[in-house]
Amino acid sequence: AWRAAAGSRTVLLAAPRSFCAGVERAIEIVRRVLATAGPPVYVRRQIVHNAHVVAELERDGAVFVEELNAVPDGATVVFSAHGVSPAVRAEAAERGLDVVDATCPLVAKVHVEATRFATRGDTVLLIGHAGHDEVEGTLGEAPQSTILVEDVEAVPHIEVPDPRRVSYLTQTTLAVDETAEIVDALRARFPEMRGPASEDICYATTNRQQALAAVAADADLVLVVGSANSSNSVRLVEVAERGGTPARLIEDADAIDPAWLAGTSVIGLTAGASAPPPLVDGVVSALRALGEVTVVERETARETVEFALPLGLRSGSADG
Ligand code: F3S
Repeated sequence: AWRAAAGSRTVLLAAPRSFCAGVERAIEIVRRVLATAGPPVYVRRQIVHNAHVVAELERDGAVFVEELNAVPDGATVVFSAHGVSPAVRAEAAERGLDVVDATCPLVAKVHVEATRFATRGDTVLLIGHAGHDEVEGTLGEAPQSTILVEDVEAVPHIEVPDPRRVSYLTQTTLAVDETAEIVDALRARFPEMRGPASEDICYATTNRQQALAAVAADADLVLVVGSANSSNSVRLVEVAERGGTPARLIEDADAIDPAWLAGTSVIGLTAGASAPPPLVDGVVSALRALGEVTVVERETARETVEFALPLGLRSGSADG
């Protein structure tokens, strides 16, 4: 199959791609806690949804757990970038755990909105995917007043106590086009529905989708580097496919099936917000092993967003 895949190619590299500010901050938080407190450092859930990131931090002494009951009394626990519900915070406080919160500030924003909307008496319609860590956390802010809306098909079946008192929020990593459709359908049912002051879909999600759309149109195949449980990475695959270009989600270069490459001359390449940049280089190298590769980067936005670390972790560096 590798022989059929041989050939010279153009790689259209989408920019921005790979790590966002929230992911960089979350990983840096774990590194600094490891450097200051020393291993083991417990992390509730995957710090970000990427198998490589998790494996590397595990090697350095991070211990990933599903729930707080797996964390010993008195230990340090990091909350992942996806955020946690108030119930989890309360449990940690009750247990006297030393909490370091790596929740992305843009996820925290959605939590604040959920509380505000529910407090003013609205039913909160949360657009997102059931079971995702972020959705679990946001739902927990006002569980009695929040309804999860997973797709446009669900809209006609929503029942609320007062159709005039409805607000919507969204998960931060959804597809922009699909979400707009759901919001339109909700607004048709609830004309007085209110929403967040600014989009909940974050800048990094939006930028990666736009950048990918700009390369996918000219590509025979799109490769998205990311883990299968990474919401924003899966959305990138869907965005390419909706635009008519076949797309594959790959953990890293090793996951490439040569059969996909037969007959392709232009490959669109990107990475989800939780996927480390070196994995993208690895994909380019793997393609180079099959023939000459010309890399053309298309930048559709420049990102300058950076998030400050939690106060206690600001001075010094992880390796210093
Ligand atoms: Fe935050 Fe968006 Fe990244 S919500 S963790 S900046 S994908």
